[in-house]
Amino acid sequence: MEKTFQFSNTHHDWMERDGNAVLGWRYQPKVIFKSGKGVILTDVDGNDYYDMSSGMMSMPLGHSHPEVAEVICEMATTFVHESSWYSNPWAIELAELVGSTLPDGLKMINFAVTGSEANEIAMRMSIAKTGKFDIVSVIRGLHGGSLAVESVTTVGGGRRKGLGPLMMPAKANAILPPYCYRCPVNLEYPSCDVKCLKTSEELMEHLTTKSIAAILAETILVPGGMIVPPQEWLPRMKQMAERWGALLILDEMQLAPGRTGKTWAFQHTDVVPDIVTFGKGMSAGFAICGTATTKEIADEVAGDLGLPWSGTYPGDPMPCAVALKSLQIVLREKLAERSERLGIWLRKRLEGIRDKYECIGDVRGMGLYQMLDIVTDKKSKTPDPAMGERIRYNAMLEGAAFICVKNFMRVCPPLIITEAELDDAIGRLEIAIKRSMDGYPKNVDFSSSSSLAETKRQAAE
Ligand SMILES: Cc1ncc(COP(=O)(O)O)c(C=O)c1O
Repeated sequence: MEKTFQFSNTHHDWMERDGNAVLGWRYQPKVIFKSGKGVILTDVDGNDYYDMSSGMMSMPLGHSHPEVAEVICEMATTFVHESSWYSNPWAIELAELVGSTLPDGLKMINFAVTGSEANEIAMRMSIAKTGKFDIVSVIRGLHGGSLAVESVTTVGGGRRKGLGPLMMPAKANAILPPYCYRCPVNLEYPSCDVKCLKTSEELMEHLTTKSIAAILAETILVPGGMIVPPQEWLPRMKQMAERWGALLILDEMQLAPGRTGKTWAFQHTDVVPDIVTFGKGMSAGFAICGTATTKEIADEVAGDLGLPWSGTYPGDPMPCAVALKSLQIVLREKLAERSERLGIWLRKRLEGIRDKYECIGDVRGMGLYQMLDIVTDKKSKTPDPAMGERIRYNAMLEGAAFICVKNFMRVCPPLIITEAELDDAIGRLEIAIKRSMDGYPKNVDFSSSSSLAETKRQAAE
């Protein structure tokens, strides 16, 4: 029998007012949350849900962590904002702590408000350092939504449609993704010897201006499909960057700190990038992101191209104090190790689910960041975003809030989740998968979701 949401009139009223006043993507069911504690979110009717996306992948410690809450209260009556012409102890300590977790050299932090801004700072740094201007990125990478980083974002969908000349010309989305499940050069790892990268270098010969400032990549391509590169990929990318006299920028927005089992995901290799950008999990939910580079690069580019980047809010005392406390706890509690340990368990559990259901084509990820690839059937591997929406909806009915973008269902709980909670949440996900395969829900219009809105628009055109 169909199970449905029983929202109160008050809840319906909030949903309607939201629709009439707040512009934003909304997904069915359009739940209005009022609070969060640990791994649990609570809606305005008092229903609880596991937060299986850590907000926007930004809450490694979950919600309302007592030590973080204490800092927020303290800073509210101490110091919230100041002119960005001056510094403050929290910005200095946060920069020092972030620097201490990075390999030697990457010690200089330029703070930003958003991840998009942090990546644009990295682009400015690369252009200023090399005197070149082409930015080469990986197909299926996502680096943000402001216009310069939109140019180097290639996750598909309608994001760039109609932006035409506003997309910067000095960019080449020339590197094929190391996407073994749907290999872009139709080979198999390891016998392929990472041919996608060799082919990419040929593409770079033809697609770029040959004046390359930087190669920009996510260490793991999360939004584009949780593409975990084979071990050789990043070291060879670094060599490729060196051959072209370009800097290597790694975007760790989705990955640091600790999500994959190391503080930084690139630490699973010996590669040290020239620049690394961070946000989300480093921010503890406040708008604080940043760009880390070496003192040599920072000194060399200072004064050029608006660098070091500033603005109204980057490096403000309140968000820096919160991010500082959050990172201190992540390191003190060894949450990266915990993520690695629980990740092994989670992976096995999800692979068991994959083996049982035709609509789960693959499981990919590292540590406590895994993803189910939702397909029409295992043989064709055809992406099935509509099924993804159904599973996500049914999981909400079971009290577990997941993010599913297109056909990629992300499992990204706060790093403090216990094994029992994780087991419970994944059990609820499995119930949701079964119910979705039985064709439920029957009468829900999912076209407001960003994954399916384009399909609706195309049908109307
Ligand atoms: C890998 C990656 N880089 C950059 C960004 C942009 O961050 P922001 O939304 O804070 O601008 C995102 C956002 O989802 C992201 O996933």
